[in-house]
Amino acid sequence: MAAKNRSFNVAVVGATGIAGQQFLAALEGHPWFKLKRVAASQRSAGKPYGEAVRDAASGASRWYGEKACPADYLNLNVEQAEHLKIDDIDIVFTALESDAAKEVEPLYAKKCPVISTASAFRYEEDVPIFLPGINPGHAALIETQRKNRGFKGFITPGPNCTTVGLAITLKPLFDAFGVQSVIMTSLQAISGAGRNPGVLGMDILDNVIPYIPKEEEKIEKETGKILGKVAGGKIEHAKIPVSCNCTRVNVHDGHLETVNVGLGKKASLDEVKAVWAKSYEELRASKLPSAPAEMIHYTEDPFRPQPRLDRDRGDGMTTTVGRLRQDHVLPNGVKYVLLSHNTKMGAAKGAILTAEYLIEKGVIG
Ligand SMILES: NC(=O)c1ccc[n+]([C@@H]2O[C@H](COP(=O)([O-])OP(=O)(O)OC[C@H]3O[C@@H](n4cnc5c(N)ncnc54)[C@H](OP(=O)(O)O)[C@@H]3O)[C@@H](O)[C@H]2O)c1
Repeated sequence: MAAKNRSFNVAVVGATGIAGQQFLAALEGHPWFKLKRVAASQRSAGKPYGEAVRDAASGASRWYGEKACPADYLNLNVEQAEHLKIDDIDIVFTALESDAAKEVEPLYAKKCPVISTASAFRYEEDVPIFLPGINPGHAALIETQRKNRGFKGFITPGPNCTTVGLAITLKPLFDAFGVQSVIMTSLQAISGAGRNPGVLGMDILDNVIPYIPKEEEKIEKETGKILGKVAGGKIEHAKIPVSCNCTRVNVHDGHLETVNVGLGKKASLDEVKAVWAKSYEELRASKLPSAPAEMIHYTEDPFRPQPRLDRDRGDGMTTTVGRLRQDHVLPNGVKYVLLSHNTKMGAAKGAILTAEYLIEKGVIG
């Protein structure tokens, strides 16, 4: 068997935004991916990247990464997304608002795989929403998508950042016990709203905002799709009723979620923990460059998970879970609290892991 190609030129579109910047941070020194091109809106086009992430009027930095922007990237010319050159690009990562993504992702998919953080194509029948370790079988839709749309490449968006931790923790429970119902309340970080329009400091300081437009519907819809299986050339959604309340809280990064699950059959708390502990064995064994040592980390400390203390577990790729208890209201109910990093596993680095996973599975070659 021929050795797998492990060397890919990549582009990041929406590179100046919050998720885009996380792509750059995660691509620095990546053993398989070389960042060749970056693109954003007309506002940034034609500028060196370092200048595009600086406010033109005040000179203030708009770089949000914990570490400085990789020096190699500061002089990359920012291209306008619609005119991005992709002749020398193997994979395009996109981090755009949905309307812009709808326009440009099909342009790139004519030639390349497009791995997106946007919701533009997430709910279309021929578009898989990959979550590494959960649904590699959904790759069967890619050929259908190519036929339907005349693509040589394909588009695959990641889940909404709030769905990520939920789906990761539900999948092992779904396989082991079945899931009848899910009630989830999120306390979502400010960075999840992006920069534009983002959340104003005056609105969020000393406050909780009890509504995030379109968020609850997205999670309710896509959880069943991600956990579904391919049948008859389509994804048959898992029949899991999900009910969400999504709120925005005064936290920089890390979405906390309280989850109540009605299981398909009774399970003790130790059985639930054992199922989580054994989960994602194949992904963990794969040693992909961005895969964490643990997809789920269970903590017995009743005061955890906390955003500040737990969001960077596994470099932001591990979902931390705690406070597992019986739920006496839902049939066969259990309840827990989870924390997932919204811009890392929930966006950029999660998309990079998806690319690695699809390479490993031979879907991208
Ligand atoms: N933030 C998160 O935690 C998170 C998590 C998961 C998924 N997502 C998704 O990722 C996407 C980006 O989110 P974000 O938080 O990074 O947003 P953001 O900070 O507002 O960044 C938006 C990016 O899109 C570019 N852009 C805006 N309008 C454009 C246009 N018409 N054509 C081309 N480029 C355009 C911006 O470029 P300029 O700088 O040139 O304006 C910027 O690079 C969204 O779909 C969001 O839902 C975000």
